[in-house]
Formats: sequence, C-alpha cells, structure tokens
Amino acid sequence: MGVLDGKVAIVTGSGRGIGKEIATTFAAEGAKVVVNDLGVNTDGTGESQIADEVVSEIRAAGGEAVASYDNVATVEGGKAIFQKAIDSFGALDILVNNAGILRDKTLFKMEESDWDAVIAVHLKGHYCCTRPFAQYIRETNRMGCRIINFSSVSGLFGNFGQSNYGAAKSGIAGFSRVIARELGKYRCTVNTISPGAATRMTIPLSEGRGQTVDPTEFKRGPAQIAPVVAYLASDEAKDVNAQIIHVSRGTVGIMQQPAVIRSFKAEDMWTQDQLSELMPKLVEAKKQNEARAKEDGAAEAI
Ligand SMILES: NC(=O)c1ccc[n+]([C@@H]2O[C@H](COP(=O)([O-])OP(=O)(O)OC[C@H]3O[C@@H](n4cnc5c(N)ncnc54)[C@H](O)[C@@H]3O)[C@@H](O)[C@H]2O)c1
Repeated sequence: MGVLDGKVAIVTGSGRGIGKEIATTFAAEGAKVVVNDLGVNTDGTGESQIADEVVSEIRAAGGEAVASYDNVATVEGGKAIFQKAIDSFGALDILVNNAGILRDKTLFKMEESDWDAVIAVHLKGHYCCTRPFAQYIRETNRMGCRIINFSSVSGLFGNFGQSNYGAAKSGIAGFSRVIARELGKYRCTVNTISPGAATRMTIPLSEGRGQTVDPTEFKRGPAQIAPVVAYLASDEAKDVNAQIIHVSRGTVGIMQQPAVIRSFKAEDMWTQDQLSELMPKLVEAKKQNEARAKEDGAAEAI
C-alpha cells in the first residue's frame, strides 16, 4: 500500500535531479507517472531522451510510467503532456511543475533572450502545464486533485545575478496563491516548494565557492525533496493548501507569506513630513518581524 495508490501524476523535468526523485518516489508510492523531460542542458539548449531511463527504472521496480518529451514552455507542449496522462492512464490527479533552467547574469549583461528563456520555462511553463489540468478538473468536476509548484529562495528572498530566475520563481508563488483560490471549489490543493538540493543546477555554484557536495547524502541530495512532495500529493494532505514549504539541508519548514506587519491610517493626503516620521517606524517593524521569524523558524531536532 502506497500513499498514492491509484493516482495518476505528471512530473515535469523528471529525467534527472529533483524531478527524477519525485517520479520514482511517486511510482514507489503507487502512482502511475508521466515522466516529462525535454532533456536540455542547464541553460535550456539541446535536447535528449533522458526520460526513457527513468521510465525503465520505474518499470524495473514494478511501477508504471510513460515518457513525455514535450516542452513545458509552450501551450502545445503543456497540452501534449496532459494528453499523455489521459491517453496512457485515463485520468489525471497530480501535477508537479518542476522543470527548470538557469541563465544567471547580472541585469547589466542580461540579454532579452536570457530573460525570455527563463521566464518561458518557469513562469509560462507553470501556466502551460496547469491550464489543461485546471480545465479538466472543472469539466469533469474531479475532486481532490493536487498541484505542486516549484519556487526558489532566489525569488522569495532574492539572489544576486538571478533577476530573470528570481522574477519567475517569485511569480510562481503568486500564481500558486491565485490558482489555489480558483480551484478551491474542487478541493484541489495548490502548494509551492522552495527546495535546496545538490543537482547539476547547484553543484557548480557550490564548487565555485570551494565546497564539495555529495548528492547522495540525505541533507544535500535531491532525494530529500521527494517524500515531502509525495506527502503534499497524498489524500492525507487535503488541508494543506496555498502554502510554501521549504525543504533543504535535511529540514522541512513552512514559509511566511506576504502580510502587513504594521500600518498607519490617515484621514487626509499624506504629507512628506508624516512619511519622514512613519517610514522609519515601518522599516523598524519589518526588521523586528524578520528577527522574530528567524528565531521562530530555526530548525528543531526531531
Ligand atoms: N536544486 C536546487 O537547489 C533548487 C533550488 C531552488 C529551486 N530549484 C528548482 O527545482 C526544480 C528542479 O531543479 P533541479 O535542481 O532538479 O534541476 P535539473 O537541471 O537537475 O533538472 C531540471 C530538469 O528540467 C528539464 N527541463 C528544462 N527545461 C524543460 C522544458 N522546457 N520542458 C521539459 N523539461 C525541461 C531539464 O531537462 C532537466 O532534466 C527547478 O524548477 C529548479 O528551478 C532547485
């Protein structure tokens, strides 16, 4: 008995890295899986059929899976990935929007093509893959589906040299909050993962800082993300909705989301003098809130 017995899932970008761990874990938990991957380089160039290897691995372990080589960044690709699930398994319950690329550059050097490529795979990719699923949920009145999206501290906290990626990842958190409301009527939960794991996407950055990382180690590798995603995809997680779950370095945590921390109300138009007095108080309230959140969020041993 697995926690995903009888479910059908799509995991985009699951030919390697975090996605592969999710696809194999889902299959081990009883889901039938569409292993989607375009097989591109980290910068989004090239193509290869790596999804086949993951499908073979799942089948060898007794699970059910099919490969999909469609591009998440196009509307046609998103529809084809969805259709693969319907044609192969007759239904769809879970969508994990995990595919991703990087084109790190400061804004000074960032060309339009770098901006467009990253926004297309991450932010538009979430739209392209989620829309056919959302339409299907509404048309078939399918209850209790799951959507799990992939954000990043790069967008949620901000990171030097990643304005394209950070904008997309922050946008994905906003997209998830809205879709959670729109699909709430169908008891479909929409949650966001903020992962941290040693994959080809991050190993070069660690090595650049002189750190050696072992992706097979629980606290560093991509495998640590998969059980958390499987939990969110399960029936058990029916009341976890519109949350951002941070999974990194052996910790699982819940993130704070935008909220007004302190505010002042005026009856007439703001004067510059009032703002000079109030703005430092607001900034100070934010600092105190951050310090409190940091203290409260420190990982507890289990
Ligand atoms: N590794 C981390 O620490 C980390 C941190 C924050 C966010 N993330 C996010 O987690 C997700 C997985 O990252 P990863 O580290 O496993 O990366 P990865 O490079 O190992 O895997 C990403 C996969 O996505 C596929 N892909 C890329 N573009 C595609 C497209 N257009 N259509 C279909 N497939 C496509 C690639 O071929 C690749 O196999 C990404 O969304 C990434 O931005 C990762």
